[in-house]
Amino acid sequence: MIDLRSDTVTKPTKEMLKAMYDAEVGDDVYKEDPTANELESYAAELLNKEAALFVPSGVMGNQICLNVLTQPMDEVICEKDAHIFQYESGSPAALSGIQLLQVEGKRGVFTPGQIEPLIRPTSAYYMPRTKVIEVENTHNRAGGTINPIENIEALCNLAKKYNLFFHLDGARIWNASVATGIPPSKYASYFDSISCCLSKGLGAPIGSIIAGSKDFIKEAYRIRKAWGGGMRQVGVIAAAGLFALKNNIERLKEDHEKAKTLAEFLNQSDSFDIDMDSVQTNILIFKPIKNSVEEILAKAKELGLFLSVGSIGTLRAVTHMDVSFEDIEKVKLILGEL
Ligand SMILES: Cc1ncc(COP(=O)(O)O)c(C=O)c1O
Repeated sequence: MIDLRSDTVTKPTKEMLKAMYDAEVGDDVYKEDPTANELESYAAELLNKEAALFVPSGVMGNQICLNVLTQPMDEVICEKDAHIFQYESGSPAALSGIQLLQVEGKRGVFTPGQIEPLIRPTSAYYMPRTKVIEVENTHNRAGGTINPIENIEALCNLAKKYNLFFHLDGARIWNASVATGIPPSKYASYFDSISCCLSKGLGAPIGSIIAGSKDFIKEAYRIRKAWGGGMRQVGVIAAAGLFALKNNIERLKEDHEKAKTLAEFLNQSDSFDIDMDSVQTNILIFKPIKNSVEEILAKAKELGLFLSVGSIGTLRAVTHMDVSFEDIEKVKLILGEL
């Protein structure tokens, strides 16, 4: 099977497994795991933040950040298809007692002009309190789209003007970075908190990093433990994350090339509809014209291809390190047959 459901399906390579096998470990709840400590300082340096923390998943990363930045009854402004809204099981409400205010962006990107009128007046005690602006870069549900750096800067200035925090769901910030040539640290510089995944395109089996100021991470550390995320000899997985950060960022360019090739094929086909302007990194969202999504999914599976579902009525294909350029040629044949 060729699996294009997600870039989370990658399996650790032999070299990564060796790094895991060789990892020096200790009890991380005592902060005595040298590999986890190294990963955290390496990531903090890469993102040019004072401190970083290793967490088991991207969801936990985002939710810890939101929890630290808010009080119950606060509001977070996010895009309508943001991962924190669509795919995190309603946990902002359950875990932090906060609500999300969704804004419709264009290809996942909203502007300062769109959200400034939505910021609640501080005098209105009967309203929720706007506390955080959240941005997802790249934007998963919009198809791996990149938020332009000028827009991020303008949103950052808006956040400062209204004394709001600015959070980045940078699960795939590495993809944005290799596509634009803008270093992850430059992206991170605009945000109070950032969560980024090691287990997607970078190929680690588990884990995310959150980063921010020392005080922010001190509080995040407390919340991670409270939510059951304090881990013991975690160096065995931190080693995979460290290996991923050191070796697998630049190669994401290949995944983008594979996505582009496939998108061009879909664009020429009269059976699928794809917005080529949204093809910016490794995620393709496209619509079947002659068949239902369910029919395509089932038939593709019979022919040896796993696809997934995007937003309603759309299919999703994600390229990653476990699919080769040759696989992409096979995918074209399968989709051609469909
Ligand atoms: C944009 C975005 N944020 C957060 C996450 C959550 O990551 P995890 O699956 O590790 O919890 C994902 C996962 O797909 C994602 O795409």
